[in-house]
Amino acid sequence: MKSKPKSKKIPITLVLNGQSRDIDSPPNKKLLDVLRDAGLKSVKSGCREGDCGMCTVLVNGVPAKSCLINMETMHGKRVDTLESLGSEEKLHPLQQAFLETGAIQCGFCTPAQILTAKAFLDKNPNPKPEEVREALANVLCRCTGYVRIVDAVLRAAVVLRGEQLQPYIPPEEFYKHDVNEIKLPFGYYRRIGDTKPLLPLVITPESMSKTVSVGKSSIKVDGPKLVTGKPVFTDDVQPEGMLYGALLTSPHAHARIKEIDTNRAKSLAGVRAILTYKDLPRLKYATGGQSYPQPLPHDQVSLDNKVRHVGDRVAVVAADTPEIAAQALELIDVDYEVLEPVLDMEAAMQPGAAVIHDESDTEGIFDASRNIVHHIEAEVGSPDEVFAECDHVFEGEYRTPKQQHGQMEPHICITSFDEDNRLVVRSSTQVPFHVRRIIAPLIDLPVKRIRVIKPRIGGGFGGKQEVLLEDLCAHLTLATGKAVRMEYTRSQEFTSGRTRHRQIIRYKLGIKDEKVVAAELRLIGDTGAYGTHGLTVNMVGGFKGLTLYNAPNSRFICDVVYTTTPPAGAYRGYGAMQEQFAVEVLMEEIAEKLKLDVVEFKRKNWLKLGETMHMARKLGEGREGYDQAMASSAIDECVRIGLKATDFYKKRAAFQSQTGNIHHGIGMAVVIHGSGIAGLDMGAATIKMNDDGSFNLLIGATDLGTGSDTILAQMAAEQLGVPINDIIVYSSDTDFTPFDKGAYASSTTYISGGAVLKAAQNVRRQILVHAAKMLKINNPKDLTIYNRTIIAPDESSVTMEEVALSSLHQMDQHQIMATESHLSYVSPPPTAAQFAEVMVNVESGEIEVERLLMVVDCGRVINPLTAAGQVEGGMAQALGFTLCEDTTFDSAGRITNDSFSKYKMYKSNELPPMDVIFVQTDEPSGPYGAKSVAEISVDGTAPAMVSAIHNATGVWFRDLPLTKEKILAGLR
Ligand code: FES
Repeated sequence: MKSKPKSKKIPITLVLNGQSRDIDSPPNKKLLDVLRDAGLKSVKSGCREGDCGMCTVLVNGVPAKSCLINMETMHGKRVDTLESLGSEEKLHPLQQAFLETGAIQCGFCTPAQILTAKAFLDKNPNPKPEEVREALANVLCRCTGYVRIVDAVLRAAVVLRGEQLQPYIPPEEFYKHDVNEIKLPFGYYRRIGDTKPLLPLVITPESMSKTVSVGKSSIKVDGPKLVTGKPVFTDDVQPEGMLYGALLTSPHAHARIKEIDTNRAKSLAGVRAILTYKDLPRLKYATGGQSYPQPLPHDQVSLDNKVRHVGDRVAVVAADTPEIAAQALELIDVDYEVLEPVLDMEAAMQPGAAVIHDESDTEGIFDASRNIVHHIEAEVGSPDEVFAECDHVFEGEYRTPKQQHGQMEPHICITSFDEDNRLVVRSSTQVPFHVRRIIAPLIDLPVKRIRVIKPRIGGGFGGKQEVLLEDLCAHLTLATGKAVRMEYTRSQEFTSGRTRHRQIIRYKLGIKDEKVVAAELRLIGDTGAYGTHGLTVNMVGGFKGLTLYNAPNSRFICDVVYTTTPPAGAYRGYGAMQEQFAVEVLMEEIAEKLKLDVVEFKRKNWLKLGETMHMARKLGEGREGYDQAMASSAIDECVRIGLKATDFYKKRAAFQSQTGNIHHGIGMAVVIHGSGIAGLDMGAATIKMNDDGSFNLLIGATDLGTGSDTILAQMAAEQLGVPINDIIVYSSDTDFTPFDKGAYASSTTYISGGAVLKAAQNVRRQILVHAAKMLKINNPKDLTIYNRTIIAPDESSVTMEEVALSSLHQMDQHQIMATESHLSYVSPPPTAAQFAEVMVNVESGEIEVERLLMVVDCGRVINPLTAAGQVEGGMAQALGFTLCEDTTFDSAGRITNDSFSKYKMYKSNELPPMDVIFVQTDEPSGPYGAKSVAEISVDGTAPAMVSAIHNATGVWFRDLPLTKEKILAGLR
């Protein structure tokens, strides 16, 4: 929230991007707000607390956080923003390098990173990688793991020194190797101590078909606008006369609102509307952005007379300025009947615990009196009989934290009425089509009167697969008739957003002849105050957690439990991450106890090519699933390559007995994930040909920084025989792009990609038919397309532009275009092997991660650089999950670390070297053989780290995050 400006303005003169500017400003107005008001939208707001660095600009050439700077201190100073550096036509070497290296994912941090790097390179033109990491430490990035950002700065330094620059993307032969020969250039692969980032290695079977656009590390199609700081995010385009919405949240973890009085607030000049539960109809819904019908329970209303966590919604205000809105919130008088908080999921299920959902109008809660929202049981085979016959039965209990998404752009939306009296919702959402469908009944408007626009998104990771602000913002627009903007404060991201599910995981594995023949997974998942993704996350956890080792006799018993904490929701990894951590560690423990080689033990048991996934039908996602078998897998190759690249066995043996305080360790884990939700996720794509032979690709798929717009354009370009810059991508807008379920469940490459491929095949057919007529060729199938040209067997040809002009203006006139939809009844698992190397100080409990390596089979890699960025960023998030990230509460249920200064997320100078190797497979059901990559990237780090720490210390750790205190306690 902005601080209240003093009313009297003072004259300030400063040099802004090279031009002298006279500004009359309240003395305590923040430089950030002045710059954004002046149209310099590259300057971003991520926390307004000086913690994230998104608002960094150069003041007299020095990086400074503009959210902390009062205008009264700025007189006579020089301010430079990204807008001063370069334009799309003439990029600064740093901007060019960020584009070429894949340093941009969502792009929200990019302006601050580039400006910080510029100031650094001005002083240190020939830096070492670790110096770059140190220099960038004040600007957080949640997407990238900083690997390519460091690379970009080093590359720009070469240009700025005037030295010869090598192409960033190596020649094709550099990254093509036959996996069967395993002749890897291990000399190329880095050893501990090397800090220079490396390109991802892409290992390709000779049998894979050759492609032109697919498989290339193309620059992101939205990269140029992101690297120049164009106004592309939700907050960068604001309607005239917009009001500012603000949300009053509960200070209590559990309370009933006895009375709420808004009269004092309403009398404040500039307040335009205040809404409480008294003003809105009580319509039940669920905030999770999932397909129709959303899983029960629908346990929320837009505004309620009961609050169930600190940060729960109480009232909303719309006012002329953010400051008035903030002041109005303070003037709302609420009389609470404070109830007992319920913070522990096991205690929540005990008799006598306070009942969190005691309302009578929520359907679908399994046992409200015990705060159990879902009870799930699923079984195949005869687990009890087989356990009784096993050589050994092992059990283990594991606990995982309530991790924050920590995306840099807060949740934000702007609602307004257009000239046709239709509601336009401009929102940073992963699920624009679900938003439209879910809010329609809440605001009593038909779907046809709502248009949801998804601009660029500053990261989401699942946190924006929820409808958190759109309904309230729309209510304020309905109440005032005016455009309204609502944004979570950074603190509200913690208290009112979503998190990963905290879980207690109890596994029992039965072993006979070194085979896992029976498995039982008992899971308790903490969904927080509302059910939202409680059913589906925990079912996915059960499915993936019982499928990696795929015991034919398996049982899943799960309770999803309410607590009076901020709701858990969708978060990259979606249950699979937690359960695979647990089962991988238990498998290691078993191998140790049975004196087996852990890799061979796992190899004997992991899911094999062609194998049926026993739990696939029983554990769909929130419902019964479909029978599935593994149709492509390189898990074996991934492990073999990783073992070799890291010298695993040699190090593992050497680290068994160590003396002194510093102990080294190396660990590994194998993981699987999925590609979309089988039989449910649907995406569609439209491709339309233009006069010049270019194409519009219209997709409802939601690129939240993952690069999906780019890889979908590559698929279209491949099929249509044109360069990627002939594909103009537009995503996503419910009025203009076809339906897509949105960005979640690792579905975009696989499902939306399937739709793009079908649409491109259809358009290609139409082009060939028309070209055949032009060339007077009987059979269009005799034609080929290469580089914008359609070529006949006799080498006569027409260009793509000639076909476009002919079809639009001259012969058999029609629009060449197609819309296709795609759904799959399988969800092919990508597979991976994760390796971790650590140093543990056994005296202090401190852990230093020396290196992370993930070897990934995600089918065909459509764009190695963007895919590597996904894996690097995923490993960074997963390392936080493993070592330091958790949401902590006091006894009243207040979050004690609700800011980036208190909640630990890794900075650029704190992450280890992270490397990625891809082992390509050809998934038969995937577009060009692709599977997913976004989520498997987070699945393996925790178990590999626990494995490495055990190798270093001989101690098993089962409770994440592994803080120094927990490590010390374990060692003692
Ligand atoms: Fe850095 Fe998204 S690219 S926060």
